[in-house]
Parts: sequence; C-alpha cells; structure tokens
Amino acid sequence: MKIKSFDEYKQVYQQSVEQPEQFWAGIADNFLWRKKWDKVLDWNFKEPNIKWFQGAKLNITENCLDRHLETLGDKPAIIWEPNDPQENHRILTYRQLHDKVCEFANVLKNNGAKKGDRICIYMPMVPELAIAVLACARIGAIHSVVFGGFSAQSIADRINDAACNIVITADGGYRGTKEIPLKSIIDDALVQCPSIQRVIVLTRSRTPVSMIKGRDVWWEDEIKKVETQGNTACTAEEMDAEDMLFILYTSGSTGKPKGVVHTCGGYMVYTGYTFANAFQYNQGEVYFCTADIGWITGHSYIAYGPLSQGATTVLFEGIPSWPTPGRFWDIVEKYKVNILYTAPTAIRSLMSFGDEALQGKDFSSLKKLGSVGEPINEEAWHWFDEKIGHKQCPIVDTWWQTETGGFMISPIAGVTPTKPGYATLPLPGVQPVLVDENGKIIEGNGVSGNLCIRFPWPGMLRTTYGDHNRCRTTYFATYENLYFTGDGCLRDEDGYYRITGRVDDVLNVSGHRIGTAEVENAINMHSSVVESAVVGYPHDIKGQGIYAFVVCPKHHADDDLTRKDIMMTVSRIIGAIAKPDKIQFVTGLPKTRSGKIMRRILRKIAEGDTSNLGDTSTLLDPAVVEEIKAGAL
Ligand code: PRX
Repeated sequence: MKIKSFDEYKQVYQQSVEQPEQFWAGIADNFLWRKKWDKVLDWNFKEPNIKWFQGAKLNITENCLDRHLETLGDKPAIIWEPNDPQENHRILTYRQLHDKVCEFANVLKNNGAKKGDRICIYMPMVPELAIAVLACARIGAIHSVVFGGFSAQSIADRINDAACNIVITADGGYRGTKEIPLKSIIDDALVQCPSIQRVIVLTRSRTPVSMIKGRDVWWEDEIKKVETQGNTACTAEEMDAEDMLFILYTSGSTGKPKGVVHTCGGYMVYTGYTFANAFQYNQGEVYFCTADIGWITGHSYIAYGPLSQGATTVLFEGIPSWPTPGRFWDIVEKYKVNILYTAPTAIRSLMSFGDEALQGKDFSSLKKLGSVGEPINEEAWHWFDEKIGHKQCPIVDTWWQTETGGFMISPIAGVTPTKPGYATLPLPGVQPVLVDENGKIIEGNGVSGNLCIRFPWPGMLRTTYGDHNRCRTTYFATYENLYFTGDGCLRDEDGYYRITGRVDDVLNVSGHRIGTAEVENAINMHSSVVESAVVGYPHDIKGQGIYAFVVCPKHHADDDLTRKDIMMTVSRIIGAIAKPDKIQFVTGLPKTRSGKIMRRILRKIAEGDTSNLGDTSTLLDPAVVEEIKAGAL
C-alpha cells in the first residue's frame, strides 16, 4: 500500500486518476471486510450522492483492534502522557485496548445504546476517550465528540441537532494549570436536552459533581457490573460500508455549526491509506499527534488511521507550554517519538520561547515531522526543520478538512520533494482543480484560484446531519459538479499547491475553524449590543486573531468592563476559543445602501492597512469609516 519513490508516486497518481475505482478497490483490499463490496463507487455531486464500497460489510474496530491481536497483541497501541508529568503515564497494548473497548461497548449496551443511536462524547484527553469512541463504533452507535473547550450552550445545540440519547463525560479534566469542570458543564447543557437518557461519568479529577438518580452513572461502576456479569467480550456489530460512523460539528460561514457525517467503509480506507503513506509509517515507530480527539485531526490521525495500521499512537492530555515550554520535547525524548505531527500555531508559540526551551533535549529519535491546520509560514517551517528536525526529517504539510476526512494535498515523507509553505502535491486519488470566480477551471501552472475537488474520494463527507440540502448548498452548489473547499490556493510553476487561506467568512484561529457569523451571533446576544461585525486579522501566534466591531450605545460601566462582559457572553454561547482578541466600539458599521456590511473595509482596518480602502462610494454613510479608522485598536 505504501509508495516508495517519487517516480512511483507519479505513476500511481496517474493510475488513480485514470482508473479510480480499480485504484481504490486495490487499496481497500488491504483491510478486513466481513463481506466485500458489490460496487466500488456510485456518485453524483449534484444532489450530492456519494457511495463507496456499496454492499460491503465491516466493523472499523475489527480493523483497528482484532486483526492486530495475533501479531501485535502485546505491542503498545496507545501511550498516554498525563497533563502533569509527575503523574504516571499509561501504556495500552493492542490486546488491552481491545479488551477495554469490548468491556465499555457492553457498558453502553447495558445502558440502552443500540446501533444507529447518537452518543455525545465530552471528555478530556485520556485513553478512555479513545475507548469510548471505539466502543461506539464497535456497537454501531454514531459518536459525536465535542471538544472540551466548547460551552454548555454549544454542547446542547450539538446534542439536540443529532438527538443524542447518551452522553459520555468525566467529572473534570486538566489542561495546564486549569481544571475544566466537564460534568458541571454537561449538567448545564442538559437542562435543554430532553433526548438524553443516560450520562456515563468517568472519574478523572474527582472533583465533586452532582449525580442525578436515574440519569447519571459512574464509568467505573458500570465496568464492574459488566465484569461481575462475566460479560466482557463483545462481538463487533456488522456495519454497511455506508452506515454512519460519526458526526463531527464544524463551523461554516453561516451561524450554525454543521454536523459533518462520515461513514464506516470509505473513512476507514482513506484514513488508513493516507496515514500509512504520508508518514511512511513503519511497524514499531512511535507516532505523536498533538491534536485533540475533539477535532477531526484527532479522529483520523490519533485514533482511526494509526490504529488501523497497527501503529503506536501517543495521546497527550496537556498543553505544549506547561509546566515548561519544553513539554513536547520532553515527551519526544521520553517515548523516543519517531513521528511528530503538530500545528503551525503550536510551532510559532514554542518558537517564541527561544532556544533555551530546546537546550539539552534529545531529538535524535525523530524521523518525520508533520504540520496541519493552517498555512505554515516559512519562518515557522524553517524553525521546525532546523531546530526540531535537525534538517534530517521531511516535513509533511498536510492540507485537508473536517469534510475531507483525511489528507488531500500532502507530501509523502521522504518521497515528495518539499518546499517551505507548500502542501505540495495531491495524494493518489485526489483530483484538485483551481477555479475562477465564475467557476471556470484554470488550467496550467503559475496560477491562483479557489480550490475545488472534481472527483470523489472515499474519505469525503456524505451529508450534513439532518439537513442534506445544507451539504449541497455549502459544498456542491457554488461550482457545478465540483466540491468547493472554501480555500484559496496557488499552483506554482512546478505544479505545487500552496494554500493561501479561506476565501469565505470562516476564520482559522490557532488552527480552529470559527465562523464570523457564529461569533457575531454570540456577541449580539449581549444585552446592550445592537449589532456587530467580526473579521480576522494577522496574529503572530494564532495565525488569525478575532477583531470585533461592536455597536453598543448604552455601555454599562466603562469600556473595558463592557468588553469583558461581551467576552464572557461569547464564552458562554460558544466557548473560550471564540473570544475576540480585540473589541472596538463604533457608532455604526460601514454598510451599502442595500444594508450589506462591507467587510472588505473592516478587514483592512483590522489589518492596520488603511492607506487604500478601495471604492467606498457605495457606502450609505462614508463618515462612519473615518470614525472607525480613527478608533482602530
Ligand atoms: O483553510 C484550511 C485550513 O484548515 C481548514 C480546515 O479546517 P478544519 O476542518 O478545522 O480541519 C483542520 C484540520 C484538518 C482548511 O479549509 N488548513 C488545514 N490544513 C492546512 C490548512 N491550510 C493550509 N495548510 C494546511 N496544511
């Protein structure tokens, strides 16, 4: 399944475009199926209707666990590094992980879970998070993991959108010096969630929590029940290739996050194949992805992709800067990490601590590096290459999205010649095109445009949960017969791709997607706010910062306090990750006569570039621009 040379890549790529079905069938043959497919692919991008490996039967956990037991049973599947380096780490072999997944799968069944149910998971980065995810997949329940940084309101919205019946959480979680009261946040959320019948609570921080009779149960008690019943084995549920595997909510340019749906067969094949290739994973290598399982990177490249390939995956509970800014490097040294996959925002933040944080650390185990989440600036790329990789490790800059399920444009480590700032070339099976604003495909090299994909790949989203039309209008209606990514892109003279950032109203803050409309809605919930407009601006560490222009005529107390009140409102409605970095109070927003906010002008002001604001003649009240310029932060 692995490509070994650049020439081979070119040849395989060509074949994957000419005979995609044959190509993907060949890849899928490397996985374990209860029954093989009747048809490799059925598709149209109009509805859209995409079906891979129709008629095939499988369970993804048999691929991630059972099939490795004979050869890798005693090899580490998960190495868990706790937030506090003084606490003991944990290693779960493939056999132990398998057994724990089976046990917890039975806990889920004992608590009423069935195939097709939606189960919300809101947990810290502990092995039980991976166990919970896999246990859902084992019994055919659809997991919807919500990142631990989201607020009660966000959780409630997600639970209600998918009508989940069970929540899996923990009493609390740790991140650096902070303790996050997960169960208490869930309790707040559940006030609004009539569909939830059971909450399973893992003990982590042992912070006092309320446990409601008839609804809330402890993880550990439920495991004991299963053990005393002697009910620890669990045969995997047989799933159709196109049955839903999970829902993961992500922000778009409208106010409400969408539930991106991935299905069992295609997602399994795609994440396994791309993991094995982009990282050229060799048996026995230790792989450390610093993401959180609450995001797609964690789903695809901490859990499913590495596990389906029998890899050893490091799961880290904490943050890069605690207790020291050398924490990642300590983990690399402690477990002799061979592959490190992280994000530009983490790299920039660690760069800012200077070389002292690197002193005395042993990087010699590292062989391959990876980056994801946003365009990596050249300075960060070189620092990563020189200071961490010691110029010995290829950097794979992987471009992909929640919707794509796995890597799309990415070097293959040691195979594809890299270029700083470039995601380089499409992986086999991926057919990117650039289009102009009219949807005309731009041919040739040395060109820029909007990035689209013209042919399906197995890991792509199938729908947005509960609203298929939204999936169509968001991704498939902008340009006919193309999947639109929302990203701008350059294809250079060598045909190499460089992602230039979002072309829609979506921000990328520290590698997290946040919709401007979503933040505006949250700000507007504050009682004295009349109206607001949110744009991004360049931020040294986060990549993009959030700049909010807010009309708030009746301040309560001083500006600073009001700003804090607004921040608190955003934290409550979305979560701390969406808090604006800057809030400027204005008396009005620049609008056209038809009432449309001219964001282009606001973006320029936020970027500190007011020399040429372009054509402002269509503005209803040009004076407002002068006032905003004068008050810019
Ligand atoms: O703008 C692109 C950026 O992140 C967006 C996808 O965000 P999300 O679905 O949250 O997934 C993040 C992890 C896959 C893309 O539309 N992006 C992601 N990776 C890169 C990137 N931009 C440039 N280079 C990348 N390697």
